[in-house]
Order: sequence, then structure tokens, then C-alpha cells
Amino acid sequence: MPSRTHQITLIPGDGIGPEVTSATVSILEAACTPLGCTFDWHTYNAGADAFAKTGEYIPKALYDSIEQNRVALKGPVGTPIGAGFSSINVALRKKFDLYANFRPVKTLPGLKTNYPNIDLIIFRENTEDLYAGLEVMINPDIAQSLKIITSNGSTRIAKAAFEYARKHGRKKIHAIHKANIMKLSDGLFLRCCRKVAEGYPEVTYAEHIVDNTCMQLVLNPYQYDIILTTNLYGDILSDLCSAFVGGLGLVPGANLGKECAIFEAVHGSAPDIAGQDKANPTAVLQSAILMLHHLNEPEAANKIHAALEKVYAAGTSLTRDVGGTVGTKAFAEAVIAAL
Ligand code: NAI
Repeated sequence: MPSRTHQITLIPGDGIGPEVTSATVSILEAACTPLGCTFDWHTYNAGADAFAKTGEYIPKALYDSIEQNRVALKGPVGTPIGAGFSSINVALRKKFDLYANFRPVKTLPGLKTNYPNIDLIIFRENTEDLYAGLEVMINPDIAQSLKIITSNGSTRIAKAAFEYARKHGRKKIHAIHKANIMKLSDGLFLRCCRKVAEGYPEVTYAEHIVDNTCMQLVLNPYQYDIILTTNLYGDILSDLCSAFVGGLGLVPGANLGKECAIFEAVHGSAPDIAGQDKANPTAVLQSAILMLHHLNEPEAANKIHAALEKVYAAGTSLTRDVGGTVGTKAFAEAVIAAL
């Protein structure tokens, strides 16, 4: 097989980010090199760390690198709460118009959870809604955040979900909304979803209100196949759904646009366990597996996935968040040994 070198922008991130991304890189290199697939990592940071070093929260060199490479693997970046700089994650998604956030939630073999054999996918609109960051203090006692929903944004995320369902034989899509209260904004989202659904008669289309969805998910998550939703609800439901498969240490994500893609876990920077060799790198590793599929490296992707399944099925080298006893590094070594 001819050798291929992929140019990838790597953003280690904050908190547990450097630990989980470096574990992931070591597994990728161990798995891919024997297959003739190598990586040139273009490493840049963003957020508070980047600001201290470069005076910019997102250095221009990072933007340029993503623009050039079109693919990035990203660790979580912390965002100050209630004050300080705006989310780096939101800024990157908006800058590169990464409108589709794809988050597959699937149980790994061997892992004991209250909900066995989960297999659902969240398609979350990634560039608008309340995450547009349009906020203003009307006066010292009144704050206003604007919720922006467009037909373009709603239609393209609906198309992404239905196209995926068609291609991968998924049977059902639920649009999740709160159009009983936000009749105009969520109403527009629903109208766009319904219109797109008409073009995919083989996929069953349904709608649930977001609060009911939370209850339905906890009672019976198996009724959902693909969840199609707006930015904020998608963010919240992702964390809820991660609990079905062992928690935030497990669930990967892809931020997809027409030109670029950034692969990152659902979880944040987990400051409570940062720097302690406790973080589970599985979510970032599974994001890297999605990246390998995107790079048309299915053999490498399947090889790593098989090793990951082996480690979970054996159950002897798992991190503490899923009931194990080993650290981030030892877990990565176990995956490498299982390749
Ligand atoms: P979080 O996702 O960082 O942590 C929530 C809980 O899950 C914590 O108890 C943490 O220890 C645990 N956890 C998360 N990832 C884990 C892993 N890989 N292994 C084991 N345990 C893990 O959410 P939190 O604490 O609300 O946010 C912390 C910071 O992360 C905030 O500044 C937030 O803005 C940022 N954030 C960044 C994201 C990104 O870069 N895409 C996404 C979500 C949050």
C-alpha cells in the first residue's frame, strides 16, 4: 500500500485536553504507521494559554493552519463562566461554518451501564440559536440574549441528518424543539425539518418537545434513532445521552462544514481532574476514529476501533470514570497493546 501523510491541525486544549490528545496521538501513530499512514501534526493552542503566549485567544496561525489543512483534531478548551472571553469552540465553528455537529452515542462492548446496547446519533445545528453570542445589557437589571434561527441553518442540518440516515440505513429521525413556546424561531426550525423530511419517505419523521424528550430518553432511549435539533438543546441532550454509554469520557463528535472539519469530544476541559492522569481519552480517540473515516482511512479506523473494543471487553485496563483503576497513560498503552 502506498504511504500517505495527512496534514492535521492539532489543538491540545486546556485542562485534561493535553493528556487526552497526547494519548490519542500515540495510539494513532502506533496503529497507522504500519499501514503506511502517517501524520504531520501542526500544533497550536487556543484560549487562555494561547492568549498568555501570543496575545490572541485564537492565534492567526491557528486559523491559517485549519484553513490550509482543512482537518483538525481538538482537545477541549475552557471558557470562563459569566464573564471573560467568548467561547473559542463556538468561534471556531462559526469561523469555518462547521454547521453540522455529529455525535454518535454507542455502547462499547463489556461496559456495564443501566442502558445496554445504545446506538443513537445526535445531529446538532452548530452555528446559530442562542449560541450566536448576541447579548446585550438593556439596563443593569435586564440582560437580553438573541436566539437566531434561520431557514438556511435549519434546512442544512436537517439535510445532513436525513442524508446520513439514507446512506447508513437509519430508520427514524426525531426533530427536537420547543415550538409550543418559541413559535417563531423553533417553529421555523420545524417547518424546515418537515420540508426536508418530505424528500426522504423511507425515513420515519417525528417531533418531540425538548422537555418531554428528556423524560422519554431516561425512560426509554431505544425509541430514538437520530435526534435532529438546534444548538442549545443538542448540547444539553448530548451530555444526557452520554450517561447511557458510560459518561462524557466516551462520546465523540465531529464538527462538519463544506470546507473543513474539526473533530472533538463532547466533553469539556474537566478542570476537576486535569493534570492527574485520570481522564478517559476514549472520547477523543473515538473522535479521531471519525477523523480517519473522513480522511478515507477506514482500515486504520477499524483497527483502532477493534483494539478499543478489545480493551473494553477485557475490562482490566479501564479508567476510573467507567469503574476501572488505571490512568490515562496506562489505558492508552493497553489500546496500543491490543492493536
Ligand atoms: P466537562 O465536560 O469538562 O466535565 C463534566 C464532568 O465530566 C466532570 O466531572 C469531569 O471530570 C467529567 N469528565 C469530562 N470529560 C472526562 C473524561 N474524558 N474522562 C473522565 N471524566 C471526564 O464540563 P464542565 O466541567 O461543565 O466544563 C469545564 C470547561 O470545559 C468549561 O470551561 C466549559 O466551557 C468547557 N467546555 C469545552 C468544550 C469544548 O472544548 N468543546 C465542551 C464543553 C465544555
